[in-house]
Amino acid sequence: MYQYTLHQQINKACEYHQLDIAGIDQFFYTRFIANALTLQKLYIEIYGDHPAAVAKFSILIETIIAANKNRKDAHKARDREKEKQGTWFTSNQMVGMSLYVDRFCNTILELPNRIDYLKKLGVNFLHLMPLFESPSGESDGGYAVSNFRKIDARFGALADLQHVQTIFQENNIYLMIDMVLNHTSHQHEWARKAKAGEKIYQDFYYLYNDRSIPDEFDKTMPEIFPESAPGNFTYIPQCNKWAMTVFHQYQWDLNFTNPAVFIAMLENILFYANLGVDILRIDAPAFIWKQLGTSCQNLPKAHTLLRLIKQCVHIATPGMALLGEAIVAPKEIMKYFGTDEFVAKECDVAYNATQMALQWDALATGDTRVMLAAQHHLMQKPLGTTWINYTRCHDDIGLGYDNSMIEAAGYNPYEHRKFLKDYYSGNHSMSTASGALFSVNPKTQDARISGTLASLCGLEKALLLNDITGIDQSIAKIILMQAQSFFLGGIPMLFYGDELGYTNDYSYQNDEGKSYDNRWMHRPLMDWDKNKLIETKNSIESRIFSATKRLIQIRKKLSILSDQKNIRWLTPHNIHIAGFVRTAGKDKLYCLFNFSKKAAYITWYAFKEAGCFPTELYDYWTEQKYKVGSDHEYLVIEPYQFYILEPNK
Ligand code: GLC
Repeated sequence: MYQYTLHQQINKACEYHQLDIAGIDQFFYTRFIANALTLQKLYIEIYGDHPAAVAKFSILIETIIAANKNRKDAHKARDREKEKQGTWFTSNQMVGMSLYVDRFCNTILELPNRIDYLKKLGVNFLHLMPLFESPSGESDGGYAVSNFRKIDARFGALADLQHVQTIFQENNIYLMIDMVLNHTSHQHEWARKAKAGEKIYQDFYYLYNDRSIPDEFDKTMPEIFPESAPGNFTYIPQCNKWAMTVFHQYQWDLNFTNPAVFIAMLENILFYANLGVDILRIDAPAFIWKQLGTSCQNLPKAHTLLRLIKQCVHIATPGMALLGEAIVAPKEIMKYFGTDEFVAKECDVAYNATQMALQWDALATGDTRVMLAAQHHLMQKPLGTTWINYTRCHDDIGLGYDNSMIEAAGYNPYEHRKFLKDYYSGNHSMSTASGALFSVNPKTQDARISGTLASLCGLEKALLLNDITGIDQSIAKIILMQAQSFFLGGIPMLFYGDELGYTNDYSYQNDEGKSYDNRWMHRPLMDWDKNKLIETKNSIESRIFSATKRLIQIRKKLSILSDQKNIRWLTPHNIHIAGFVRTAGKDKLYCLFNFSKKAAYITWYAFKEAGCFPTELYDYWTEQKYKVGSDHEYLVIEPYQFYILEPNK
């Protein structure tokens, strides 16, 4: 319904800021008016009952206008370009890498010197791990931010990031950075003021005078880091209060029931947008709304808040897409893309964490049935949104997919997870993996897994034993894992070092600020002398690098791999093989992966079931053609091999 007063309020604010709404600001103004009602509705849903609701809504309007006003012309032009392309982030041309600037190349200003390397590999989208100021020793890899506007001196300065963003843009490299929305460092100015007793800032956090409410919360809230940070509250002696600290004790949860917190964090989000960020990674969005008597995860208001953020970004800085880092159960993850009238209007991108974990599941068991059982959920992703597909990232591998999926494959969930934990922590006689359990919960025995792609695939052990067959097999596993995540719908995201087969780095154990967190074993320090081995024929580095590069080349060549919701999983004729077919018009592409250590067979009939009757298939990986035989004959897939097959090419 049209709202005259709202329209007038926006008009007045635009007039005050001297916007040229019939001229250069017309795009912005039209977008604002077109989305104003939705913006207001979402805002009222969250803050309608707050005493400061009306006053803060005016500030919200001002914030949006100011952000658009401060947006550089170059960024506005890019907004329009992206608008023309539509959902630009679903393109098969995008290939990402996630990296710690200091561990990759020291400083932000060094990044341009590595562009050649990234181009050689084919990466054109960079996720720079948290860059903003974070106290050393209490940093959680940068996810405990003490200043959202100041780059940590270890990496450089804000001007460096702006400079490098321009260079990235000239080189067609997309940029992603983090917005740590759920919490701040206890050293952030707001937290310091709260400690000093300033009520305004105490209201920015969840602070309690005694344990009564914290105890109530603790009854239903799970622990995130039960080993290194048990419980969800921390006593703060300076103000004699208990702060909610869901993650580490030095990370104070922000109180988003307070509209002042929302506005302050929105200003930071829009500030990042105006740095020219293409995708903003919203850290831990599942946690941003708390309510007594619940797990305080995935609550409906968390979604409303994200939708409100999405509306604000869409109006003020539309070229920036949002990635929700919700590492949650399959049926919950889908909600981060929006539901009902907000389908595809919440997060544009999300991590395909279930698929990632299920690939590790299949690799350990050689059985793809659990992976297949999950696809029914994963395929619900709406058109116009996409996944980040990955095998490893800076975090652990969680085994949080549904028990029903494990049961569907005929396994007992407890025993199955125990097997996986033993397998990847190297405690199973059949395992070649070198990893470790992360965040073991002594009460529930839940645990996640740390380790690099290469170490978990067996390269570390094989190198130690000088086992040539083991080395070959681990490389095959690495490439198989990457291949599946490259050819699924979504943006493939490499974790730096995995393209070279970096194994675990145990030096974190000697660093007091890191030793309590074994995720540091899979966050390597790049050794650029060693990396030169990519030029040495048959070196491990060159084998993994060149195979990864070829996967990227194939992906970029085939537009059928754009995420048009054009994926269908094949009927499981063989439990060792996971296969899907991608479709675009009349074209099809079959992608088949053998997760077993033995050769596997799939009948030619399986291809026909997908509605296509090819006489010949061309494999982009081996560059060979295969004649399709009669229905009962087979295509053989060697251990840990895969095919990317186009019919009758
Ligand atoms: C996200 C990050 C993780 C961090 C946590 C708390 O899950 O990926 O590294 O520990 O948020 O900020």
